[in-house]
Amino acid sequence: MKQSGGSDAQKRRAGEAAADEVEDGDVVGLGTGSTAAHAIRALGERPVDVEGVPTSFESRQRAVEAGIPLTTLEEASVDVAIDGADQVAGGALVKGGGAAHAREKYVDASADRFVVVADPSKEADVLDVPVPVAVLPDARTVVAERVVALGGEPVLRDAERKDGPVVTDDGSLVLDCDFGDIEAPGSLAASLSGIPGVVEHGLFVDLADVVYVGTGDGVRTVTP
Ligand code: A5P
Repeated sequence: MKQSGGSDAQKRRAGEAAADEVEDGDVVGLGTGSTAAHAIRALGERPVDVEGVPTSFESRQRAVEAGIPLTTLEEASVDVAIDGADQVAGGALVKGGGAAHAREKYVDASADRFVVVADPSKEADVLDVPVPVAVLPDARTVVAERVVALGGEPVLRDAERKDGPVVTDDGSLVLDCDFGDIEAPGSLAASLSGIPGVVEHGLFVDLADVVYVGTGDGVRTVTP
């Protein structure tokens, strides 16, 4: 899994704060990554009956370990989704460092309330990390050309401990697309969504309701 600059204690505080706001009977979208993992564990320890909608193979496994019963979007609607981010700037996020952003986006976007959990290393004034773009495998070259035309530099994400590229839980490949400073994330998000062959990109614009930032001694609440 990729590394972020935050400490595990900061991530734990953010995750636990998010788990604390879940109410008995809620259906919870279970995000992916090291910060959301703390929320899943903490949720499993709380005296509430909830069901989880996982956003990846990984979060499904963590929910099983935490004793959280699972459901699907066919059977239930999500009351609150809890998910991490690779970078947060105002109301916009970059996600997909774990290549789970396609499922994360439709689960998080469907929730009545979307809670982001992060550590201070994720905060920025302007988004500037590469945007993960999940693509149909045969479309990777034509999508890459369109990304270049938009001013981006796409790099096919290589797997670790496997020869060849990362393949997502849903069979996509991932282009990490460096656009430098992203001054207009909403506009870039729309452009990326319009490229044929793109499954989903990691720009989450105006979806988050609150961001819990775990700090050295507590949690800071940021309302985008
Ligand atoms: C998964 O694809 C990502 O969107 C993660 O939610 C994001 O990378 C945050 O992960 P960490 O909490 O591990 O930094």
